[in-house]
Amino acid sequence: MIFDTHAHYDDEAFAEDRESLFEQMKEAGIDFVVNIGANMASSRETVSMCEKYPFMYGAVGVHPSDSQEMNDITLKELKELAMKDKIVAIGEIGLDYYWPEPAHEIQKPALETQIALAKEVNLPIVVHSRDAAKDTQDMLSALKAGDCGGVIHCFSYGKEMAREFLNMGFYIGVGGVVTFKNAKKLKEVVEYTPMDRILLETDCPYLAPTPYRGKRNSSLYLPYVAEEIAQIKGISYEEVLKITMENAKKMYRI
Ligand code: NI
Repeated sequence: MIFDTHAHYDDEAFAEDRESLFEQMKEAGIDFVVNIGANMASSRETVSMCEKYPFMYGAVGVHPSDSQEMNDITLKELKELAMKDKIVAIGEIGLDYYWPEPAHEIQKPALETQIALAKEVNLPIVVHSRDAAKDTQDMLSALKAGDCGGVIHCFSYGKEMAREFLNMGFYIGVGGVVTFKNAKKLKEVVEYTPMDRILLETDCPYLAPTPYRGKRNSSLYLPYVAEEIAQIKGISYEEVLKITMENAKKMYRI
């Protein structure tokens, strides 16, 4: 009954025990996982994992940190990958100003190109936005990215910014960070965001929830995130699973 809307199971952190972990996940009720591409290599890997694992769907795209990869040749390949079976989104794409590189002037056209691709292939987008709230908002708004639909994944801004993205039609992706003691801002965002616009995600292997903070994350830890959301919203854990499952299926059109 759990849908992990954002995972990176192609990561080498899972090289040793991927198969046994997937078995455990099946037993734990992780019914769906969307594996998210972050560059051309992981997008290709996502497509082959989707062919191999029935519970897995995928997104293909180039993350802002790898945006120097975008050119006419990779765009053509990305389009081919996007049209494969079980590929349900373009992502993760976006802006990341936390790191000094790549330059904003490289990140922005890569985002613009991939929003155009999403429109062309008629898929929602998975947006990564870190320390770049204003530019992300401006670009998504100017490019009418809300027409694609999609999610602002691992949401890290305040509720005023959440309102802007919700108004554009986006979902808010919530993961392990919401369980951290100092995550006051994200707890407020969860409180503010209507339940039918929240998605569960891990971003694994990163961002494990408390009590596994700092360890390798996996979909097995999503119950801690769902519990925290249930507490904040004052609804049951089961309701959180049910509603976030419906939301994810609706957004990814599964
Ligand atoms: Ni990610």
